[in-house]
Amino acid sequence: MSAQQIRELVEDKRVIVCVGSGGVGKTTTAAALALYGTLIGKKTLVITIDPAKRLANSLGLDALSHAPQPIPGARLAPFGVPPQGALCAMMLDLTFAWDDFVRRAAPTKAHAATVLDNRLYRVLSRDLPGAQEFIACEALYTLTHERDYDLVVLDTPPTANALDFLDAPERILTMLESDAVKMFARSDEKAARRLGLRFLDGAKGAVYAAFAKFTGTEFLDDMGAFLATFREMYAPISARTRGLQSLLASDSTGFLIITAPVQGPAREARLFHDMLHERGLTVRGLVLNRHTPAPDVPTEGLAERLQGAGLDAPVADKVVQAVNARAAAHRADAAIAADLERSLPADLPRAVVARRARAVADLDALYALLPDLVGL
Ligand SMILES: Nc1ncnc2c1ncn2[C@@H]1O[C@H](COP(=O)(O)OP(=O)(O)OP(=O)(O)O)[C@@H](O)[C@H]1O
Ligand SMILES: [Mg+2]
Repeated sequence: MSAQQIRELVEDKRVIVCVGSGGVGKTTTAAALALYGTLIGKKTLVITIDPAKRLANSLGLDALSHAPQPIPGARLAPFGVPPQGALCAMMLDLTFAWDDFVRRAAPTKAHAATVLDNRLYRVLSRDLPGAQEFIACEALYTLTHERDYDLVVLDTPPTANALDFLDAPERILTMLESDAVKMFARSDEKAARRLGLRFLDGAKGAVYAAFAKFTGTEFLDDMGAFLATFREMYAPISARTRGLQSLLASDSTGFLIITAPVQGPAREARLFHDMLHERGLTVRGLVLNRHTPAPDVPTEGLAERLQGAGLDAPVADKVVQAVNARAAAHRADAAIAADLERSLPADLPRAVVARRARAVADLDALYALLPDLVGL
């Protein structure tokens, strides 16, 4: 059974990366897989990105906590977590993660302070395309290397192009290597003006917004100072990028594509598969989330059976309508699922997770997904 192959992934891998279109259930799946990791005795960390508030609360996360937070053993014990199993959750806070990275990567404390105080840094670390993805990867790399987790599950940001995060580290390196940045860094103001802000293509909105707040000279001064210091971090950024690339490509990492029976995301799932493959990364499984289950009762002759059981005709009608609507939704989801099946390799492990009546907002609800997700 396929869900069992997803289960083997959690058992075998050290890193699981959940990718997929916006809103399909990446955060939910990442948290549920992490809970399963804990159940089998692994010391597990789930790195979530912008979790829904109720799920965050139930994982013990608040807006102020960027560091991994342990979930108290007493809350896990009812699920049968063995003594060696531990679950930590972390909410990636973009600003905090960047500041933390700058402090670790800058050659001296003074360098770090210069970058952190720079107004342009504040804007760019938030709005530069790829900044969020780079820092998510950086956090994954650091936490996987510096702490002794048996399993780290990474949720990924809902970017317009959900695989941006794979290219983000490389893009930041390319930017730092560009001639324009070198000129700014040398404070060669004339040359920098001549080149304009070309290297920031794509971040123009953010940069112009910053520009509007400063005078022209202030802006160039800030830009020069920022880039000169930031370039000092080229070596650590480069080392991390290479390290991260090999971590993602390693045999102990598994990519899971999360999708839902909705035309757009299902099409994108196929795209993600191909794009990961092109980058030399192996997709180890597919999770089709929020699949409408078939009605519990056969629709044929339902009205007669209900009336035979003494239900008033108008009430029986309402029930029949509801059951028929559910059956139609199930058929529609199954048709999209079948299309998706045909477009992906036949041997790709997959799990189908039924749509629940309510949002998945606490540990109990996450646990209830495990039969579908990992065949528990
Ligand atoms: N199987 C399910 N049944 C019912 N609701 C679900 C299911 N899976 C997820 N949800 C709900 O759907 C919503 C979106 O899920 P989630 O936040 O995990 O998606 P996401 O892919 O992380 O979204 P984003 O791209 O915005 O980060 C949440 O309210 C979640 O509780
Ligand atoms: Mg999410």
